[in-house]
Amino acid sequence: MANSRMPAHTRDPAVLRTALLGFGTVGQSVARILTEQPPPGVRLTHIFNRRIDEKRVGWVSPDVRWTADIEDVFADEVDIVVEVVGGVADAGQWVRRALSSGRSVVTANKQLIAHHGAELIALAEQHGGELRFEGSVAGGIPILSALRDGLGADRISRVAGILNGTCNFILTSMESRGAAFADALADAQALGFAEADPTDDVEGFDARAKLAILCATALRAQVAPERIATRPLTLVDAVDFAHARQLGCTIRQVSQAAWDTGTPDVLHASVRPSLVSRQSPLARAGGSQNIVLLQGQYGGETAFSGSGAGGGPTSVAVVSDVAAIARQRQRVAVAAGPARCDDVGARPTATAAVLPARVTGEFVTPHYLRFIVKDRPGIIAAIAGAMERHGINIDAVLQLPADSKDALPFVVTVEACPPAVLAAAIADIGELDFHVRPPVDLPILSGGGQS
Ligand SMILES: NC(=O)c1ccc[n+]([C@@H]2O[C@H](COP(=O)([O-])OP(=O)(O)OC[C@H]3O[C@@H](n4cnc5c(N)ncnc54)[C@H](OP(=O)(O)O)[C@@H]3O)[C@@H](O)[C@H]2O)c1
Repeated sequence: MANSRMPAHTRDPAVLRTALLGFGTVGQSVARILTEQPPPGVRLTHIFNRRIDEKRVGWVSPDVRWTADIEDVFADEVDIVVEVVGGVADAGQWVRRALSSGRSVVTANKQLIAHHGAELIALAEQHGGELRFEGSVAGGIPILSALRDGLGADRISRVAGILNGTCNFILTSMESRGAAFADALADAQALGFAEADPTDDVEGFDARAKLAILCATALRAQVAPERIATRPLTLVDAVDFAHARQLGCTIRQVSQAAWDTGTPDVLHASVRPSLVSRQSPLARAGGSQNIVLLQGQYGGETAFSGSGAGGGPTSVAVVSDVAAIARQRQRVAVAAGPARCDDVGARPTATAAVLPARVTGEFVTPHYLRFIVKDRPGIIAAIAGAMERHGINIDAVLQLPADSKDALPFVVTVEACPPAVLAAAIADIGELDFHVRPPVDLPILSGGGQS
């Protein structure tokens, strides 16, 4: 497998030899940038992938070593390992091995970082390498660098955003075309915006991994993704967009997190389809765009938007991380001092994160409740009665013209109330005999989310 033109044992110490693990969507784009305009002091030396002979391309330097054997990477002098394989088992093992041997690692792997980020950062610090993962959250939006550098002096109290481009693509096509969820998903798959198995996206698992990383970097809260409450996108029906429009709103999959303002150690965090004002920045993110909104104690609200995924945007984030490592190494070399852990000024801050005592998906917001019922007199009165018994104020009742009285949709909006109270009222209403489908409740968020 070794390329005879590669000077395997001679090296310029000023050049960081970089191995690329994974030559798929992101890996190929990373290789393209490292080939066409490598950051100063960086050279692509290895490309590793299974079935490597099916992967070879002619446009990378002939000096690059192509291999399907990971041992070739670890046996050679490699300074930076770029992991864009995905998954947590093999990729995690290779990242740990690279960091344990003092190499630096760049990864776009949200699941690996969301589940093991703190451990891996500690490993990097222990062995004098760096771990960077800008591409793991919101693809091409440099949100982690912004949090670390441009906003590093602020105290972030809330983060909210659209972190999954597939879900946003589906919701915006339901919004613009009145499409049913299944049709919008099929379109997204046909156009390459959704995987054949879309479970991670539509169930919210992808977004909650990214939110967990943002909790660590923005809020200094260490939270396992599984502790973040998620609701599936499949709750949303085309009819909800028609009703949302009447309310001056649209629907987005919103990921949000905030420390509780009254109870220390309680973190609110959730990923759920939500109504958002059509005037809000969240509503303006269309197609596969992502947006992240941060509320700072001193700096107020800041919005970052851009492409949340795709080989091009993600590879820019990945190679920018590689460049940052190279710049840092050059600074350390110029200073001619030994590279201590605290010399690495651009290190992510997840190690400073604390474990919340409790993580709750509850945010106190007004709610949108959608019912599909077999029409008969007294339904509104029954719902209003249940709300009154639980002390909940109804804000509005909406009913659009419908084809059939056998499956009549209508909506009730309620004012903000404690989430447990609302849940109890919905449970009571759910027992009534007129439902054709279970009631659906969606929070109504003002501005950039609400706690
Ligand atoms: N795609 C995006 O827009 C995007 C955005 C942000 C972050 N990311 C993250 O970036 C990473 C890569 O995503 P991707 O979209 O580039 O995935 P991908 O297209 O599936 O590429 C992964 C590559 O790794 C190879 N591979 C997988 N398992 C392997 C193994 N055990 N041993 C050797 N090679 C293996 C695959 O080979 P085969 O071709 O043989 O399967 C493929 O070439 C993931 O962590 C993903 O979450 C992706």
